[in-house]
Amino acid sequence: MPKQKKIQDIEDLPGVGPKTAEKLRQAGYHTLIDIAAASIHELSETVGIGEETAKKIIESAKEALGFGFQSAYDYYLDRQQVERITTGSKALDELLGGGIETQSIVEAFGEFGSGKTQLGHQLAVNVQLPKDRGGLSETDKPAEVVYIDTEGTFRPERIRQMAEAVGLDPDEALKHVLVARALNTDHQMNLVRKVPKLIKEGHNIRLVVIDSITAHFRAEYVGRGTLAERQQKLNKHLRDLLKLATTYNLTVYVTNQVMAKPDNFIGIDFVQAVGGHVLAHAITYRIFLRKGKGGVRIARLIDAPHLPEREVTFKITDEGIKDV
Ligand SMILES: Nc1ncnc2c1ncn2[C@@H]1O[C@H](COP(=O)(O)OP(=O)(O)OP(=O)(O)O)[C@@H](O)[C@H]1O
Ligand SMILES: [Mg+2]
Repeated sequence: MPKQKKIQDIEDLPGVGPKTAEKLRQAGYHTLIDIAAASIHELSETVGIGEETAKKIIESAKEALGFGFQSAYDYYLDRQQVERITTGSKALDELLGGGIETQSIVEAFGEFGSGKTQLGHQLAVNVQLPKDRGGLSETDKPAEVVYIDTEGTFRPERIRQMAEAVGLDPDEALKHVLVARALNTDHQMNLVRKVPKLIKEGHNIRLVVIDSITAHFRAEYVGRGTLAERQQKLNKHLRDLLKLATTYNLTVYVTNQVMAKPDNFIGIDFVQAVGGHVLAHAITYRIFLRKGKGGVRIARLIDAPHLPEREVTFKITDEGIKDV
């Protein structure tokens, strides 16, 4: 058997000539990981190739990357890069295994007023703390935040207030938060795709907040016929986010309002979104928030891969999120 060339770039994949490679790049598939994480249908549609060809290309990319086996040692080395951001509450940090992790998506879900947006603001401030205080700022490299607001509930005044409470300069803290108002699902997804460009321009983005990730999806896709479509698009969005988190060692924090009426429920299916073992080391956390007695908030960790499911309480004060 002739020895095959090692596959490193998308051009090296069997069936991908310069023309197809160009089309792939234009459609946003720059690396083998992008292709390995794509669905057959999506690849064939966006690039205009047959499903059989798309399937072969994806399979070859996965094979070249060594999915789904990786030595436990390599996996361990990747995990060593993981850093943590404090939530401001020791109890909540402990629930999450020591704060919220980079290379992961954290979803806070719960009813109105449960504290999802407050936690988003708090993380946007706390990530700016130096590393020895639970943030991700380095001496000459303050950590920056991308805040995608879909509901118009971002409040710079609240950032200032929380920044002052932890001893950060409130104006500086605001300068390190890049805010965008997403107008619809397409816009929201496009904003996420712009993050790598910001990073290449020199922004030290360590946290991406999407508050809320589901509101536009809920509004745009109503009626039974469109639910599958909605879920597919949301899954694509989650894959983009996971890729951001793992590629740039950053944290993605998303909120999802869960209402009492079950037909309004949008389940975020991380397993389906990630496509089984592809991007297997992206870890996801789901926190269920609810209001308790006397203004206390209760957080429950759901489905975490290596942590027990349990509950803690915290409170929201003028100074931000605190232990009870
Ligand atoms: N400065 C503050 N001091 C004390 N509590 C505050 C302060 N600001 C907000 N809160 C509390 O946070 C609650 C709002 O929480 P938040 O906006 O995070 O809810 P949410 O989960 O995002 O809700 P929604 O689903 O409507 O977006 C308020 O009802 C109040 O109890
Ligand atoms: Mg909110």
